[in-house]
Amino acid sequence: MIDRKKVYVGMSTDIIHPGHLNIIHEAQKLGYVTVGVLTDAAISSYKRLPYLNYEQRSLIVKNLKGVEEVIPQSTLDYVPNLELLRPDFVVHGDDWKEGVQKETRQRVIDTISKWGGKVIDVPYTKGISSTQLNSKLKEIGTTPEIRLKRLRRLIEAKSIVRICESHSGLTGLIIENTSVEVNGIRREFDGMWSSSLTDSTSKGKPDIEAVDLTTRLHDLNDALECTTKPIIFDGDTGGKIEHFVFTVRTLERLGISAVIIEDKIGLKKNSLFGTDAIQTQDTIDGFCNKIRAGKRAQITDDFMIIARIESFIAGKGQEDAMERALAYIEAGADGIMIHSKDKSGEDIRLFCKALRLANQSVPIVVVPTTYNHVTEEELSLWGANIVIYANHMLRSAYPAMLNTAKSILSHGRSYEANELCMPVKEILELIPGTK
Ligand code: SPV
Ligand code: MG
Repeated sequence: MIDRKKVYVGMSTDIIHPGHLNIIHEAQKLGYVTVGVLTDAAISSYKRLPYLNYEQRSLIVKNLKGVEEVIPQSTLDYVPNLELLRPDFVVHGDDWKEGVQKETRQRVIDTISKWGGKVIDVPYTKGISSTQLNSKLKEIGTTPEIRLKRLRRLIEAKSIVRICESHSGLTGLIIENTSVEVNGIRREFDGMWSSSLTDSTSKGKPDIEAVDLTTRLHDLNDALECTTKPIIFDGDTGGKIEHFVFTVRTLERLGISAVIIEDKIGLKKNSLFGTDAIQTQDTIDGFCNKIRAGKRAQITDDFMIIARIESFIAGKGQEDAMERALAYIEAGADGIMIHSKDKSGEDIRLFCKALRLANQSVPIVVVPTTYNHVTEEELSLWGANIVIYANHMLRSAYPAMLNTAKSILSHGRSYEANELCMPVKEILELIPGTK
């Protein structure tokens, strides 16, 4: 590449369309083209994970005509790669002159102008857009294998993975499709929590493992049918070891990414009762045997068995929780969930800190129902990898439904409840295909 000018192109997409080929074509005219393929971590910092992982995407780009070299771009910010390569040109579609990418473009200009580099904006190819293609891809859906693997990819890519409870097809759709924009960055849930509490409650049953696995999976199928995001299944105590191995196989076959089992025995009572209910923990050996049996039963390397520690719920302290965490990891647990009903969150913070000192990589799952003043950013700084909003869809739906019921009863008609309800037209249009 002697004397050839250096050209840099950043790319995140996994759906290559003629617009991208045009950018590479224009770049090639200017010199030696290096493409910085954005890593999963870089992409997930501002939008949803692409369908293909970094290795797959970089392999495709490497094979495009005109591309001479591919390197990872591990931040949304171009600057680290630009300083490394010192390119003469950065080529990009001119759509980045407007909107959220405007600032990124300016940083690129400011950086490369230091060595006389220039930004070349290639006119946007009309009639085709990645956003459009992505929404079509979403309609196609997913496969159990792709869905299952997605949780590990997310843990790898994100500072904290955001999971919300779902107990129906409709709540699944809310988690699948809802997004907000905060400071120009799209924020959405990464996946779903299939909660024993909300599955039981929505059936009018207590959360005591009375709703059997077959029934829970039957209902979970509704969410599986209309969503693509990964699912973490609340496996309660996991039941008898001989039964748990079948649970693992069933969940894995359905494309569920992880099961969380809690180290309790006897009649399970919801953890948020704390010591107001009898909470009997399993012995460390007993629970390790369950984890080992589950790990032996799974077929893929991707499925995760996460061990949930109930020491704080049962009124024990950090020492017991840590001893259990280390033993469960040793037995093969793919992650540790630490639970508490304390309002301060201090016990969780101290536990995360201690576990991170002992083990830097094991994924830590937290469920900030009672200590919900703590932000995701803080939880991530404590060392947590997954945050679960464990019951919020159902807890918010119930009071809304109750108010409507009371309004109809009080007024002897539903007119006054109009403002509590979504318009009929909207509900008819909510699910595509209703008309
Ligand atoms: C659930 O959502 O069913 C859980 C979390 O297990 S908790 O209710 O906090 O125990
Ligand atoms: Mg539960």
